[in-house]
Amino acid sequence: MKVGGRAYRSIWVENEEVHIIDQRWLPHEFRVATLSTLEDFQTAIRDMWVRGAPLIGATAAWGVAQAMMRDASDSHLNEVSEALLETRPTAVNLRWALDEMQTTLKALPESERADSARRKAAAICDEDVEINRMIGEHGLALIKEIAADKGDEPVNVLTHCNAGWIATVDWGTATSPIYQAHDAGIPVHVFVDETRPRNQGAQLTAWELGEHGVSHDLIVDNAGGHLMQHGEVDLVITGTDRTTAAGDVCNKIGTYLKALAAHDNGVPFYVALPSPTIDWTLQDGLSGVPIEERNEREVTHVQGRLPDGSIGDILISPNRTGARNPAFDVTPARLVTGLITERGVSEASAKGLAAMFPDRVCA
Ligand code: MRU
Repeated sequence: MKVGGRAYRSIWVENEEVHIIDQRWLPHEFRVATLSTLEDFQTAIRDMWVRGAPLIGATAAWGVAQAMMRDASDSHLNEVSEALLETRPTAVNLRWALDEMQTTLKALPESERADSARRKAAAICDEDVEINRMIGEHGLALIKEIAADKGDEPVNVLTHCNAGWIATVDWGTATSPIYQAHDAGIPVHVFVDETRPRNQGAQLTAWELGEHGVSHDLIVDNAGGHLMQHGEVDLVITGTDRTTAAGDVCNKIGTYLKALAAHDNGVPFYVALPSPTIDWTLQDGLSGVPIEERNEREVTHVQGRLPDGSIGDILISPNRTGARNPAFDVTPARLVTGLITERGVSEASAKGLAAMFPDRVCA
């Protein structure tokens, strides 16, 4: 997608160097960082210079590829994969991408691994872009159906966190149908949940929608239910960090509350789901998905632009108040209207996902 009129992906390679958009500074500053060493890749994922399930996977794939240029032995491949896998626990795309790299590379002699690793990492990125483009096409059909009943009125979509192009390699998952509708001339308006504690909605989703010219309003996380009660939301589309084979959806903390409100108000609640985000080894999301607990400072402080123009954190709670910071929650499949995958819209159930992906389902 475009930033200041120039097309970007969220991760790219130039002169054999891996570049990322360092998301910690958005929307105030657009900074690009170069990742070289294993520690660079670990830090970028753990400290959320890059974030969003698909982009975490793509970055890890490039971390392996860069490491293979230095030492392509089995022991180094294992060591690097383990180190990257530990960086963030919830998004299953990380494990998926590392498994893909390992399977490809272990089948090859060491002398061929460095080149092949780069090709595979690039293919993982290209595949992500194509998957998200297809999710957009299937989601667009849903938006068109609603638009047909609304005349010239915009279709109002509520989204949580950032499941936009900057959380993927391009297009985004939840935003892909929105961008495609906007580009097709269908009026869409997006309610952007701010998404405390790190404010991915306020800082990233609002920024990218604005750059693309999509109409949107930022809302506090607690406003969604009220807007739904008053008929102001036509549908909800969120992303996911891990969806079980039975259709339970793990996503950014607060997603579950939006699903409850949507259910109570008869508002369709869709989840944009690239197939690498499906954990085929899990059925029950509540007991099976590891939920990342992050630093309490993310809750007690808020980042923003300070009056002197610098970017910094301010304390919003009493000095000694402690905090809990579970970063994700699980929305049970029964609250999900449908899963928008690259192959089409699936029922959120074991049967639905197995019918959509008969080639992937575990026996
Ligand atoms: O903690 P984050 O910012 O990595 O969490 C991101 C989300 O929860 C997204 O909604 C999810 O990864 C889907 S991104 C296409």
